[in-house]
Amino acid sequence: MGSSEESRDFWTSKQYATSAAFVPQLTQKVVQYLAVEENDRILDLGCGDGILTAQIASALKSGYILGLDASPSMIQSAQHAYPTLTHPRCEFRVKDCTQLIEGPSRDGAIDGTWDKVFSNAALHWILRSPSTRLSVLEAAYRALKPGGTFVFEMGGAGNVSEIHAALTAGLLHFGCPLETARAASPWFFPSDAWMKNALEGVGFTVDKVELEYRPTKLTEAQNGGLEGWVKLFGASVLDHVEESKRDECVGWVSALLQTIVTREEDGSQWLGYVRLRGVATKGA
Ligand code: BEZ
Repeated sequence: MGSSEESRDFWTSKQYATSAAFVPQLTQKVVQYLAVEENDRILDLGCGDGILTAQIASALKSGYILGLDASPSMIQSAQHAYPTLTHPRCEFRVKDCTQLIEGPSRDGAIDGTWDKVFSNAALHWILRSPSTRLSVLEAAYRALKPGGTFVFEMGGAGNVSEIHAALTAGLLHFGCPLETARAASPWFFPSDAWMKNALEGVGFTVDKVELEYRPTKLTEAQNGGLEGWVKLFGASVLDHVEESKRDECVGWVSALLQTIVTREEDGSQWLGYVRLRGVATKGA
């Protein structure tokens, strides 16, 4: 999910299924925008454990979908859950999507033959670094055949800002300097204006880019809850805290957020997710 810039693989599919099961379930709109046709060839950037990739594959009769992800652990789970023998329409490959057209790991997938490039809940990790940001969008453009579409959903401006602030405060509380704490954020949550401009900059015609505030209910505490979310998604941030203090820091961050995310009426916990969704076309 993340890029190789974070040198460790922070992901395990078990943790992901526990703390973030809602991610592939909340995909109705972006999948509707993808408008899968049975012979589509689709490239999926940041496919994670492949659940959504395989769902999309089930709508293909003669088409094919290739899921790419930087996490070997996630790709291993995807290959295990959806082996080619029983799922011939989807395939998974370890690939750092920040390096699709740059550097030594230039990829054969960026060949101008794909009908669609798709990405769900991954671009906020993949676009994290300003130095590779535009090259990722350019890779999506170059991967497509003329007339092909890029369809994506990711965190947009203001996404999970309560978590963002609490994690930064956690680092400060546990001894990180302010600049380190600020720079530790592993995400880029662009505005609709930024994204439209960037897509047009690499050559796309933008059909739509929309922001949606979508508060999202966390899994029940025994299945992950707030602490599970902070541990899983904040792993690279928490890496800045001394290892022996990490669990304490997770507790501190979660305690800080407790009243902010918890609803009075039933004790359910919600995060302020903001979705940035878009469809852009490569001119024929
Ligand atoms: C998101 O899907 O918006 C998201 C997931 C994990 C961390 C940050 C954002």
